[in-house]
Amino acid sequence: MTTPFSSLQNQVSPDVIDLGLGDPSLSLLPLDIIQAAAQARLSQGDNSFLQYGTEQGDGHFRLALANFLTRGYGFDLEPENIFVTNGISNALDLICALFTRAGDTIFVEEPTYFLALRIFADHHLNVVSIDMDENGLVIESLEEKLAEFQPKFLYLIPTFQNPMGTTTPQERRERLVQLAKEYDFIIVADEVYHLLSYTSHAQTQPKSFAAYTDSENVISLGSFSKILAPGLRLGWLQAHSEKIKRFNTCGLLDSSGGLNPFTSAIIRGVIESGGLDNNINKLINIYRARLHVMNSALQEHLPSIEYMVPGGGYFFWLRLPEKTDARELRKSAPFFKVDFRPGTLFSSRGGLKNQIRLCFVHYEEGELREGILRLKECLNKAL
Ligand SMILES: Cc1ncc(COP(=O)(O)O)c(C=O)c1O
Repeated sequence: MTTPFSSLQNQVSPDVIDLGLGDPSLSLLPLDIIQAAAQARLSQGDNSFLQYGTEQGDGHFRLALANFLTRGYGFDLEPENIFVTNGISNALDLICALFTRAGDTIFVEEPTYFLALRIFADHHLNVVSIDMDENGLVIESLEEKLAEFQPKFLYLIPTFQNPMGTTTPQERRERLVQLAKEYDFIIVADEVYHLLSYTSHAQTQPKSFAAYTDSENVISLGSFSKILAPGLRLGWLQAHSEKIKRFNTCGLLDSSGGLNPFTSAIIRGVIESGGLDNNINKLINIYRARLHVMNSALQEHLPSIEYMVPGGGYFFWLRLPEKTDARELRKSAPFFKVDFRPGTLFSSRGGLKNQIRLCFVHYEEGELREGILRLKECLNKAL
């Protein structure tokens, strides 16, 4: 629901608990951090960031980001391999524009981030989906499709996947990179949730695909949307220098200059002051508690529903009884003042009818408990 003067993309009526919504809570978007960094930057007497910016993105910002990611990802990253974007959605659009033509085949996970499917549709791509299991993309399914199609790229969300919450283990990642080189396609790894890990063994988490960008076959995408604020429209990609050259010299960048000089100049201060690390630590503590609340509410109220507890990210992915059509079920959700996202939304082949996605980060703990109670009533009525 939006009103003509609204600033928000998604507005939910205050009496409804929309457990499907994948946006951060408004109350967790850090006005104080942004305000302090903006004030500091705007009072330096240096107005260079108001000019058209360098195509790859401000060098000081990329250095600060490379240092931050070196700590966060646990291996060395160079500013030369970072290209600044308006977020992952923008990076996906640019990748489609530069590396595909209408009618080309690309591979996605089944299920996948449904709005990425919209971007691929805008570019008239032929989308072929690859099966997943509780450990992410199934290599055998990929190999079968590679025997049939020559994809331009494989789009995947390797860590805390949207919507399944799965993480692709290290061995599979390495096999994927081998296959990308062998069959000459690009791996486009959407790592938007990579830094949002809530388990104590975060250190043993598989490596970001940025670790493989010494190959031209890998592009890793990152974003400030889930670790700071989506309204910034700021993100980055990491790639081999040849790929970076292609982004830097494309028509869009030639005309516009760098994609976000103003915001990146301010966010550089947030990174350098440690504000970003503090914000991520705060989010991790709050989201971990919310994850536990949703998990225990599900166990208490919907004990027969199957799901996997995610180790990070935003989502629970529930399997309802086999013959349930979650889209039909959703029609009765408004009567119970609750909402969710049906699995079909995340399928590029019209499948996953009996699955639903719930998000545990958007609402506070009490609302999450109440939301699951309402979901139980909705399901009890319909199933
Ligand atoms: C998997 C995934 N990729 C990308 C995005 C959007 O990222 P951005 O805001 O950087 O465009 C989202 C947002 O929900 C997401 O879940």
